[in-house]
Amino acid sequence: MRPFFYLLTLIRFFSIMKKGGKSEVFVHQLQQLFENNLRWAQRIKQNDPEFFSRLSRQQNPEYLWIGCSDSRVPSTQIVDLLPGEIFVHRNIANVVVHTDLNCLSVIQYAVERLKVKHIIICGHYGCGGIRAALENRSHGLIDNWLRHIKDIYRCHQDKIDALPDETARQNLLCELNVIEQVANVCHTTIVQNAWNAGMDLTVHGWIYSIDDGILKDLKVAVRQLDDISVTHRLK
Ligand code: CO
Repeated sequence: MRPFFYLLTLIRFFSIMKKGGKSEVFVHQLQQLFENNLRWAQRIKQNDPEFFSRLSRQQNPEYLWIGCSDSRVPSTQIVDLLPGEIFVHRNIANVVVHTDLNCLSVIQYAVERLKVKHIIICGHYGCGGIRAALENRSHGLIDNWLRHIKDIYRCHQDKIDALPDETARQNLLCELNVIEQVANVCHTTIVQNAWNAGMDLTVHGWIYSIDDGILKDLKVAVRQLDDISVTHRLK
């Protein structure tokens, strides 16, 4: 059954190529990405001929980045670092949920195997996920994910609703979300075990402005067990 399926896919692909029109433009655009890639790899090799062979042997990042999936907030570029320097997890509105096996696995691998020294939760102003969480409009499946942000809104509703305009309300929730996610990372067994084992690990909360490309430290960094709430502390 399988070879037949592949054959059918190939025939479809070539018939699309032959017919031209919109699909051909699409194929052409993807071709552009491969051309970009070749130029990029050549540029890197010119600056550092050993770059890829060194990276292929091992990665040794000092940072784990937990950010929003938003295409305007690419982790490595905005802090001007190269591939290999940041281990990354991204999802809508940079949320860390204690039952999200995907995110927890990334944190565990980063802390226990890669031994990163810093976990950075980076939110951004103008986040569509945060904006949607402040509304009552349904957006489908994603409403379930945004519930986590609505919970943060509920906890700070008086402060947020007291602000005079929508942008200020959204900006504050963007910041409060980062602060909450810093706490969520610190409350994981992974981070607490690392601290109990004497590992040097700091969890940071940052926010990025799409308007001017500038990062801001929300100064909520946590680096030891004593800094987290007693309720969540594990021995
Ligand atoms: Co976002």
